[in-house]
Amino acid sequence: MSNQRVSMHGMWSSRTVFVMATIGSAVGLGNIWKFPYITGQYGGGAFVVVYLLCIALIGIPIMMAEILLGRRGRASPISTMGRLAREEGSSPAWSLVGYSGVVAGFLILSFYSVIAGWALAYVFQTAGGALNGVTGESAARLFGDLTGSPVQLMIWHSVFMLMTTMVVARGVRQGLERAVSVLMPVLFVMLLVMVGYAVVEGDFARGFAFLFEADFSRVFQLCTGPAATPECRFTGEPVLVAMGHAFFTLSLGMGAIMAYGAYVPEHASITGATITIAVADTAVALLAGLAIFPIVFASGLEPAAGPGLIFQTLPIAFGNMPGGQWFGTMFFVLLVFAAWSSSISIAEPAVAWLVDTRNWRRAPAAWLVGALAWLLGIASVLSFNIWSGEEYQVFGKTFFELKDFLASNVMLPLGGLLIALFVGYGAARHMALEELAISRQRLFDAWWLVIRYVSPIGIAIVFLNSVGVF
Ligand code: PHE
Repeated sequence: MSNQRVSMHGMWSSRTVFVMATIGSAVGLGNIWKFPYITGQYGGGAFVVVYLLCIALIGIPIMMAEILLGRRGRASPISTMGRLAREEGSSPAWSLVGYSGVVAGFLILSFYSVIAGWALAYVFQTAGGALNGVTGESAARLFGDLTGSPVQLMIWHSVFMLMTTMVVARGVRQGLERAVSVLMPVLFVMLLVMVGYAVVEGDFARGFAFLFEADFSRVFQLCTGPAATPECRFTGEPVLVAMGHAFFTLSLGMGAIMAYGAYVPEHASITGATITIAVADTAVALLAGLAIFPIVFASGLEPAAGPGLIFQTLPIAFGNMPGGQWFGTMFFVLLVFAAWSSSISIAEPAVAWLVDTRNWRRAPAAWLVGALAWLLGIASVLSFNIWSGEEYQVFGKTFFELKDFLASNVMLPLGGLLIALFVGYGAARHMALEELAISRQRLFDAWWLVIRYVSPIGIAIVFLNSVGVF
């Protein structure tokens, strides 16, 4: 047997519970809110192809690496990296991967909670009938009223952060995970119904073509302005964003999956679990795209509308379909649950670290992490109103955009690169061999090749390209 450690933070009761929890972490706002809006901004099909390639060639192999490290170390990501580096005779500096993950986690949580707050607000708006009969214009106005009000955003941001902290503090994954394992399939079915609505009422052909017809000349172009008369410039940014999103959507590169991997039972197959998680995550994102873009085009909206995209398009569907008030309310409730089961995993690495190295109890650790992320979140709240102007921007980005860019497009891929390098070079081959326990040698060899060469070189090329080296 490869190792007999158990985690002091508890263990998942079975492989299925681990897979459900990790799907809960992966499927969230990234799939339903972020994927459609960045796909709209970065031009559709070609962006989607790059994103899918990144999932397959970089995301899946690195997810396997993160889980195997987590299970081997059985501690918080910072402690796990330190412990394994010591055991493998590598430099203690590898634990920096864990620290950078904690920082990235704070950055992500501090805007994730604000966007989840929008979903919370929409639960009540939809239930109260505010969406009934809305048009593209009134839906946009409704959204503008919400984001224009710092007070409302602060309230919902605070509510969501409290929800997250409460669950993390109790350390009960069971409660939420059990709920999520019922709610996620329901969300999936509801997305299918939404796609059905888009087929009937939306411009499905155009939405489908936008998502899946790849115009590769646009992979290195970023266009702004109205779709009819766009202004385009040459840049590596879309590829960087597609790669960053592959990390974000699979919760990779910051230790969330490593932390969850620490609680995996010894004999679970890491490869099988990873494929299930990645397929589920990708399916939800593509369905969300198929539900949204047909409505975008049928209603004459801009695909490049930005972070408000789903909050301006889905209400049109809910406001005009039979039973939409009820259905829409359900949808936003489920979106909140999807976000909730992700946000607890974003906080986990920091909390587990305070517990296993500083001897904190779980509850105060969770409250401290929640409070800090909440404070940092104020900058995200203000980014949509008081601080939206250019005088408050850094490098032409609001605080919200800056935190998202730094975490998703820089820190997560960098974390992933280091994880691949540690597994591929910093540790002995037999460590991975034992943990993965892949019976077919060829399959292991293929993964080994990818983790040592394909993923790291891929990430490096995208980075170098985006800073203009070539
Ligand atoms: N994967 C989550 C989503 O798509 C976000 C997340 C990022 C969760 C990083 C954990 C770590 O919504």
